[in-house]
Amino acid sequence: MIPVVKTIDEVRNYVKAWRREGRTVGLVPTMGFLHEGHRSLIENDCVVVSDFVNPTQFAPNEDFETYPRDIEADAALCESAGAKLIFNPEPSEMYHDALTTVSVDKITKVLCGKTRPIHFNGVCTVVSKLFNIVMPDRAYFGQKDAQQLCVVKKMVKDLNFDIEIVGCPIIREKDGLAKSSRNTYLNAAERKAALCLARALSTGRKMICDGEKDTERVADAIRAEIEREPLARIDYVEIVDLDTLEPARDASSHILAAVAVYIGKTRLIDNFIID
Ligand code: PAF
Repeated sequence: MIPVVKTIDEVRNYVKAWRREGRTVGLVPTMGFLHEGHRSLIENDCVVVSDFVNPTQFAPNEDFETYPRDIEADAALCESAGAKLIFNPEPSEMYHDALTTVSVDKITKVLCGKTRPIHFNGVCTVVSKLFNIVMPDRAYFGQKDAQQLCVVKKMVKDLNFDIEIVGCPIIREKDGLAKSSRNTYLNAAERKAALCLARALSTGRKMICDGEKDTERVADAIRAEIEREPLARIDYVEIVDLDTLEPARDASSHILAAVAVYIGKTRLIDNFIID
């Protein structure tokens, strides 16, 4: 069975042993409750999966307490995907007496940063710590969290981490819904309603593929499609430059079209990129 370790020292001992054997090391940072989207990140290298619901990236009104957790199921998925180690620390192991945080300016203040102002500080801090604990050659992040991927890439560049950041494609259910641990919050009616995100994005993508360059018109069409769904409430629909996350005017290249939508009480995100 795949080892599940709780302490930083244990992770370092495993990684040192792999390094002595000349193996490369990959890190898949997750908050657990793994699904096929995570599996697609694991199938590489000698992989450590961190499985840690990070308290510092949740605001007090968010779902830290109720975030789904299932370490046994996670271990089974990691094992079958070929991961070598799971790091499942307690918050006290990660944050004992900590006074230091890592923050990235500007690109964390837009999109999800507007409604989740402390979120990316928590993400950048925990990801930096995981990088320093595992010291991987590569780290894998899902494209579904496109802003997170952009922020992590910028942090790695700015802080000179010697780690290759690999963005992995969004994995979807058969009907198009992007896989997410938070999909488990949806009841049957909401699960159906949640399809409006993927449907709206595919309308937008088709417009661009058919030659529409005006980002306003594309964003309006995406918004209109979501608004047709009575259970949906838009947080944002934005088309931005893939690196700066500033509003883009020309939809034809290097853009991220991103949406965040409440379906009932559950906030879902989805996106596509044209690069
Ligand atoms: O994407 C996530 O699951 C989390 O934000 C991450 C990167 C594991 C940091 O806690």
